[in-house]
Order: sequence, then structure tokens, then C-alpha cells
Amino acid sequence: MMEPLTEEEVMRVLTEARSRDLGYERVFSTMCTRPHPIAVRAHQMFLETNLGDAGLFPGVAEIEARTIRMIGDLLAHPEAVGYISTGGTESNIQGIRAARNASGRRDGNIVVPASAHFSFDKIGDLLHLEVRKAQLDSDLKVDLSSVESQVDDKTVALAGIAGTTEFGQVDPIDGLSKIALDRGIHLHVDAAFGGFVLPFLGRDDLKWDFRVKGVSSITTDPHKMGLSTIPAGGLLFRDLRDVMSLQLDTHYLTVAKQASLTGTRSGAAAAATFAVMALLGRQGFEIIVKGCMDVTRHLVSGAKEIGIEPMIAPVMNVVALQVPKTPEVRSELAKAGWHVSMSREPHRALRIILMPHVTVENVNLFLKDLDRILRGINK
Ligand SMILES: Cc1ncc(COP(=O)(O)O)c(C=O)c1O
Repeated sequence: MMEPLTEEEVMRVLTEARSRDLGYERVFSTMCTRPHPIAVRAHQMFLETNLGDAGLFPGVAEIEARTIRMIGDLLAHPEAVGYISTGGTESNIQGIRAARNASGRRDGNIVVPASAHFSFDKIGDLLHLEVRKAQLDSDLKVDLSSVESQVDDKTVALAGIAGTTEFGQVDPIDGLSKIALDRGIHLHVDAAFGGFVLPFLGRDDLKWDFRVKGVSSITTDPHKMGLSTIPAGGLLFRDLRDVMSLQLDTHYLTVAKQASLTGTRSGAAAAATFAVMALLGRQGFEIIVKGCMDVTRHLVSGAKEIGIEPMIAPVMNVVALQVPKTPEVRSELAKAGWHVSMSREPHRALRIILMPHVTVENVNLFLKDLDRILRGINK
């Protein structure tokens, strides 16, 4: 181990490292954002709490239970059961693991949209499941006939995405639900991003939550549009039976059984999530989401003015802009200080997330640079 440093020296090292981290202003590629100030306060209050040994921390355990009830309410099923995880990856793993455990199969497969987040590839690896990718239709939603054709007797779960990582599209969850109910298969909805956007859009035509009968579990991330602190994920099940299929004996803790993937887990993230949800309420989130959608529309109309079309009309605050030579444009943008990402082939585009930290002023500056770069590239 290194020789001890003074407190000032430690802080100097940390301050220097922190100064190299990017501020969020010009980061248009992330689904994270600055946490709400009340989340930061709550996080600090509960820093040393461990929900993995909840008997020692009944206060924060109660806060987590209240948070799950609030999220359940948002997803149209206040009796839903689950926990605050570390994020979308853990929630997806656990949603599918519950399905696999309940099926009793160890040689199964799952059918997910081609647009699924790469956490589903981790799931295949970890849980020894074949991951079958169903094709997308021209709106970049999963094609139901492609799903049907891939399902067989070994399918332990279907997944649909409510807010795809690259396009912000919502899969036909009611169609997936019909397939799941017909076959008696678990349907997991990955709303890691959409879970804190869709309920506030006022779009009753989009059916994706527990109102859809076949939906068994939902991932929704407070550390994305929920404005909580990292690491805060949400995993909710319709039935307690699924949580029970995840439980293992703990032997030495204050709780006899544990259903979470991680052992020690942060009470701070649950407290931060509770704090933001309790403070903002539905109305507060509606205002934030409206702000993001206004900036999204501003970006899309500005892009159209310089001759660039989005892949789909934005459903939420995710935009994929069709530009020529996308990787080149992306690296030229990075030279100008803008961080955007790209969607995968065969739907390559500039991927932009209009998080609450993205302002109209910065979108205008971004569009100016994008226009200049495209003119250079087209020469
Ligand atoms: C739809 C979707 N699911 C899952 C994840 C993974 O979430 P996390 O990075 O919190 O593990 C993401 C991340 O962007 C996502 O967009």
C-alpha cells in the first residue's frame, strides 16, 4: 500500500481527477443527468446505510418500500413488488432471472427486440440463455410476427422496450402481451429510460405498463429521467411469486432471505429516489418532461432547417438524426466539444438524448456546429 497522504494531498489528487471529468452541459449522449438537489441531500443522509442487511436499517427499508409503492402507482399497479437496484442492467438481469427460475429450465431462450440494450447480451451469458433477436419494423418497433416465429417451447421470457436506448421508441407491448399470455410466458418490459418519461407525456395511446395484462415485470431507472443519484434502478414485479423465485437463504444477516442481485446495496439511492419523487410529485415530473420534449422539438425543427431528418418522429426525448458519414460527423462534433453517440447498424444515426441539462441555447450552438461540419464534409 502507498505511504499515507495528508488530507489536503488526498483532496488535491481528487480535485485534479474530478476537474478532468466532463460537466453535463455539452454531453448529449447520456441518459444520466445532474441529480436533483434534494436527491443529493437524501443520498448524503443515508450514505452508510445498507439495504442488503435491512434489519439493521429499518428506517431506510421503510423508505425503499414506500418508493416501490410510488413507482408501482406510476406503473398502474400500486401493489407491485420489487426493489431499488443498481440500474437498468441489474433490473433486466433480475427480471429475466425470475422468469428463468420460475420456468425451471436451464437450457432456455429469450426473445428480445433487435433494439434491446446490450444488458440482454450479458443476461444470455450470465444465465445461460440463448438470446434471440426479433426484427424491427419500419417504425423501429419490434415486429410481432418476427417475435412469434422465434418463440418455442424453450422460451422462458419475452422482452419489450418502452423507450429504446437508440430511438426512444415504444414496442407494441400489448401485442407482446397477447403472445406471452397465449403461451404462458413471462413478459419483461424494459422501461429503464421510458419509465420516468412515458407516464408524464399524457399519451394514453401508448400501452406499456401493468395495465397491459401480460406484463410480468418492469425495469424503470430513477438514475436516468428520475433525477435520482447513481446507482438507482427500479425493478417491479406484478406478483410476489416472482420475487420469491429470486430469494436465497442468507445464513448470517438480519434478514433470512435476499432477492437482490448484489448483497450489500445502497440505501442512499433509495432515499434519493424517494426524495425526488415525494418532492416533485406527478406535476413536477410533468413539468420536467415537458421541458425536455420542448427542447427535443426545437432540436428536430432546427435539424430539419439544415436538411437533416430524424429516423422517426420523436416519441420521447431521444432523437436519431440521419447524417452522412456518421462516425466522421460524430468525431468532428467531439472536436467542437459536443458529445453525441451513434445508433447501431443497420440504423446508423447520430443519437442525441435531450436530458434536463440540455438547454435551447446549447442546442442552437450545437446545430450551428453541425451545419458547419456537414458543409465541410459535403464539399
Ligand atoms: C433501455 C435501457 N435498458 C437498460 C439500460 C441499462 O441501464 P444501466 O446503464 O443503468 O445499467 C439502458 C441504459 O441506457 C437502457 O437505455
